[in-house]
Amino acid sequence: MIFPKDFLWGAATASYQIEGSDLKDGRGECIWYRFSHTPGMVVNGDTGDVACDHYHRYREDVTLMKELGLQAYRFSTSWPRVLPEGTGKVNPQGLDFYNRLVDEVLEAGIRPFLTLYHWDLPQALQDKGGWENPDSVKWFADYAQTMVDSLGDRVKDWITLNEPFVVAFVGNLFGAHAPGKRDARAAYHVAHHLLLAHGAAVPVIRQHVPDARVGITLDLGYFESPSTNEADQQAARREDGFKNRWFLEPVFNGVYPADMVAWLGDTLQGIDLDAVKAAAVPIDFLGINYYTRNLFVEGDSGLLRTRQVMAESNPRTAMGWEIYPDGLRSLLVRVAKEYAPPVIYVTENGAAFDDPAPANGVVDDPRRVAYLQDHFAAAAQAIEQGAPLQGYFVWSLLDNFEWAEGYNRRFGIIHIDYATQRRTFKQSARYYQQLIAAQK
Ligand code: FCB
Repeated sequence: MIFPKDFLWGAATASYQIEGSDLKDGRGECIWYRFSHTPGMVVNGDTGDVACDHYHRYREDVTLMKELGLQAYRFSTSWPRVLPEGTGKVNPQGLDFYNRLVDEVLEAGIRPFLTLYHWDLPQALQDKGGWENPDSVKWFADYAQTMVDSLGDRVKDWITLNEPFVVAFVGNLFGAHAPGKRDARAAYHVAHHLLLAHGAAVPVIRQHVPDARVGITLDLGYFESPSTNEADQQAARREDGFKNRWFLEPVFNGVYPADMVAWLGDTLQGIDLDAVKAAAVPIDFLGINYYTRNLFVEGDSGLLRTRQVMAESNPRTAMGWEIYPDGLRSLLVRVAKEYAPPVIYVTENGAAFDDPAPANGVVDDPRRVAYLQDHFAAAAQAIEQGAPLQGYFVWSLLDNFEWAEGYNRRFGIIHIDYATQRRTFKQSARYYQQLIAAQK
């Protein structure tokens, strides 16, 4: 595997998944607090109340990052920890926490990549309609300003949103994530406002941090049909339009994909589709999160009239996701060709497996090692084939609160014993440590 000399090796986390200390030290309630405290929404009734207790243990965690040899660390800030009501009055203890964290990360020689929104919307704003409310664009830009004012002298890499597709559709159409709605029209309004919020926040960041590098993270899928039948091919193309192009086209070209606009018809009622040109602000990099391939054929119901099928031949992760590294190569090359982002980072890639408990100070996770190895190799091929990939963030640094799956799904390269909060390197962490050292 050959990577460019200045390639960045990192790991990623998100505030609600690791921090804990919900509602402590002035933090306001977020939609995931409300959702996870609602019976039946998260496996085992798990919540982010304690999680990895990173809020108190961040120093130890940065020490582990340093031991790993990480060159970059992607984390997110909790909007309601900083602005408990979502707008207006700042919680100084919240800002102080992120200041201390950033200082610690920099001190360890690690480059911080800050994601402003990784799903923990202040509940106070959800009570006003959340992302369905057109005012959310301004709320987000103001929150961005608060963060750059406080951290912009030290943080230079900014990501506006994490996975707007999941926010809009898993949260508002499938109902599996906060706020738990099942309403296609609402979901498309949410997607629209997220795109506009990205467009509004980028210039705010640039204005306050002239040397900032700004981007957005999209969860892009690799969609195919196992059949050559034209209707099935069209179904896979619709899935691609639904998940990939609905966000790629606005961000790079300022338009929604025409085939999808025609397909969706009335569902888009009330949205000023032309306004999405405001999403096409120049960005310095595109973040891509990639996990799996999805196979579709034509279906007879649902918004897209598609049906997912499973490839029987390939192994799957504990999430049930097919392991398909070549999808990453193909996706990176395609996005480079069709949208020409100046730089791409893989901002998330990794896998959940049912790991054994730590034994003799290590967790044996050969399948995660293989998963990472194969995806790194796919990324190296994509670079050879022209993708401007300049860095890679493994998901995740730590086992953590995996949203609707709770603590049941472990994605970390570092194991967490939730009863004691003890951290243990898995084999995959040792593998990654050696790879980074060898690449240096
Ligand atoms: C992504 C999320 C991340 C994590 C991984 C497994 O969709 O961005 O927080 O849950 O999936």
